[in-house]
Amino acid sequence: MTKLTWAGFITLVGALAACGGKQQAGGGGGGSGEDMSPMDQMMSDSMAVSDDDGSTFGPLEIGADWQTYVKVNTSPVTSETHGGRLVDTYVNQLGARAYLDEEAEIPIGTVLVKTSTEPDGSPGPLFVMAKKSPGFAPDQGDWYYAIQWANPPAAWAKKLGGPIYWRTPSKRAAYCVECHENYDRFLGGVPAPQRLPSLPE
Ligand code: HEC
Repeated sequence: MTKLTWAGFITLVGALAACGGKQQAGGGGGGSGEDMSPMDQMMSDSMAVSDDDGSTFGPLEIGADWQTYVKVNTSPVTSETHGGRLVDTYVNQLGARAYLDEEAEIPIGTVLVKTSTEPDGSPGPLFVMAKKSPGFAPDQGDWYYAIQWANPPAAWAKKLGGPIYWRTPSKRAAYCVECHENYDRFLGGVPAPQRLPSLPE
């Protein structure tokens, strides 16, 4: 498997965007397929996958305490891979040190929550990853993935059928790893200029 650097991936996504999937100005807000970022396209496509136990909406089962985590970016990051949304990444105490050290192994029990803001300023989806014990999901590095969107704007709510909460092992959450498996440790990481330099004492 080729490992992509973050910058390399952005270039790739940029190239994809250049040849067709142009970003909708001010949007992604439920535009037609042509106008969507690859991420939004994948999210939309997941609606065609049949629902299952891991796709019923409800409160966060993992990561609900994210407001107590360490924020690992110093300013909001524009995430082309997550639909051009502005994102902040939070890591629980257990995993924060390893997350910031690219050489370190991520400890079991690490939880990452990425909050996002839509281009119009409304709250976007929450993205969750959790490192589980060996055997949980060996084909995806034993990572759990979830996307929860409690209040999607009208155009998205129509497309998604209301609020969503898709999490491993739901097939609707399967597209996350298709991209994350391209990265070392399955982590996209915070771009260096915006990465927290060291943990707060
Ligand atoms: C097209 C590629 C792509 C897809 C699809 C994708 N991600 Fe990501 N993800 C990234 C990249 C690149 C980063 C790091 C930069 C950023 O935050 O955008 C990242 C960062 C994250 C982070 C912060 C931790 C880290 O450093 O990796 C979480 C949590 C996350 N993604 C969850 C998800 C979930 C859950 C899904 C599926 C619903 C998903 N991602 C789908 C590429 C992707």
